[in-house]
Parts: sequence; C-alpha cells; structure tokens
Amino acid sequence: MAKKSPQEQIERASRLVENQALIIGASSDMARAMSYLLASRGWNLILAGRNLKDLRDQSSDLQIRHKIIAEPMTLDLLDERTIRKRIRALDGVPELTVCFAGLMLSEDEARKDSEVVHKILGTNFTGVVQAINSVAEQLEEEGRGTIAVVSSVAGDRGRSSNYHYGSAKAGLTAYLSGLRNYLFHRGVHVVTVKPGFVRTSMTEGMPLPGPITGSPQKVAQDIWKAIEKKKNVVYTLWMWKWIMLIIRNVPEFVFKRLKM
Ligand SMILES: NC(=O)c1ccc[n+]([C@@H]2O[C@H](COP(=O)([O-])OP(=O)(O)OC[C@H]3O[C@@H](n4cnc5c(N)ncnc54)[C@H](OP(=O)(O)O)[C@@H]3O)[C@@H](O)[C@H]2O)c1
Repeated sequence: MAKKSPQEQIERASRLVENQALIIGASSDMARAMSYLLASRGWNLILAGRNLKDLRDQSSDLQIRHKIIAEPMTLDLLDERTIRKRIRALDGVPELTVCFAGLMLSEDEARKDSEVVHKILGTNFTGVVQAINSVAEQLEEEGRGTIAVVSSVAGDRGRSSNYHYGSAKAGLTAYLSGLRNYLFHRGVHVVTVKPGFVRTSMTEGMPLPGPITGSPQKVAQDIWKAIEKKKNVVYTLWMWKWIMLIIRNVPEFVFKRLKM
C-alpha cells in the first residue's frame, strides 16, 4: 500500500465533523426533543429517517430557531442494502450519533406472522446494528466520538406482553455492551439508553402510570447528561434502574406465573 503524504494524513484526520450530530429515527418524539436540545447548544444536525418531508420541515425550523445547520437524510433500517452506503456517503463522520429508531407492533400478530417478526427484529435490532456499525467503523478510525443508542427496559427481562420487541431490545443492549467494550480501547464512547414508559406516539392510547412515565424532553435531558458525563448505561426516568433490578431478580418459577 502506498505511504500517505503528510497532506493526505491531515485530510484523513479531518473526516470527523466536530459539533455535528447524526440523529437516527429523527421523526420520533424523543429524537425531536433531542434535536432541539442539541440545536439550542449549537450542534449542527443530520436528521435521518424515512419521512423526508417531516425531516425537511424539522430541519428548516431548527435552522431558523437556533441558527445552526440541519439537513435531512433518508434512512430506512429495513432496507439493509442501503444502510451502510447512505451512512458512508455522508461528508465525514459526525462527532456524535444518537439513535432513536424503534418499532413496537402487536404481540398477537407477531406470534402468527413472520413478516411482523421480521419488522420488529429488523427495526429494533439488525437495522440499528448495521447503522451503528457503519458509524462505529469510521469513529474507530478517528479514535474519538460518541454513540448513544436508545434500547429499552423491555430488553432487561422478557414479558408476555412484548417479548418480540423486548428480545430485539435485549439483543441491542448486549450488542451495545460489546461495542462499548470494543470501542473503549479505541477512544470512542458508547451510551446505552434504557427508557421506561415515555409519553410518545409509540405509547399513545396506553394507560401509563404517571409517576414513572417520562416526557420526551426529560429523556433528551437525561441522554445529554449521560453523554456529557460519559455514562455507560442510563435509565430514564432514574427509578427504572431500581424497578428493573427488582423485576430481573424475581425467580423464574414466580415470574412465569405473573401476567405482565
Ligand atoms: N415510548 C416509550 O415508552 C419507549 C420506552 C422504551 C424505549 N422506547 C424506544 O425509544 C425510541 C423512540 O421511540 P418513541 O417512543 O419516540 O416512538 P416513535 O415516536 O414511534 O419513534 C420511533 C421512530 O423509529 C423510526 N423508525 C421506525 N421504523 C424505521 C425504519 N425502518 N427505518 C428508520 N426509522 C424507523 C420512526 O420513523 P417513522 O416516522 O419513519 O416511522 C420513528 O422516528 C424507540 O427505539 C423505542 O423503542 C420507547
């Protein structure tokens, strides 16, 4: 392989775009709150997702309100052939990536329909893994940067009400733990975000218990704090850490009898 000239080495080193964040699943209510929080702190944004019109509108609004650069980007996590290509096509690698993409579908339908299972696993697990791998390989080359990914408390223990979704999130949580371990030695930080209940379009119409239900804005604040403090795993709201500690420790012979 030809040796790189000093000029080429300088150009290589500049592929990391400082003060720029890639938001994956940017139409989500939590992502929207995160985008506004980051923009208010002067971050430039790339908003990735499937709904280009919504992302264009959001980008314009962010630019006007916060005088930052925001641009939309099409990314469908179920279209596996295009994920890496699209992320590699970005002009450099953003210093920060935050992924919110996720999908919860009917458990009854998942039990009967393999297409529904494919969508749940593809959106919450394999698609996210492919996107994050594409970001991670570039940050690894740079030796710095941060990746934060929204998993779920649902991944901490399988329950009858959402075990397809929960198992995809459990896979995602394990992937992030391994990725953090791998990237730690390469200067890149990985944050696993585990929300409990949050009031968003995903939970619309569900009876959510007020005191342990968060808002998208609170989740965004908690994610930002976790990024700043280089936390590894963050539960939001905080009490979910203790709720899940109890739930994880219920013996299986008792747990299987519960209706959850
Ligand atoms: N709400 C809760 O109580 C709760 C609790 C724990 C964890 N979470 C997790 O938090 C994250 C954000 O969820 P949310 O509550 O804000 O729900 P949401 O508003 O429904 O957001 C889900 C996001 O995922 C995107 N998405 C779905 N399929 C996609 C695909 N194939 N390719 C790219 N993007 C896709 C959606 O984009 P489109 O607009 O294109 O569909 C949407 O932006 C998710 O990962 C969710 O699993 C939520």
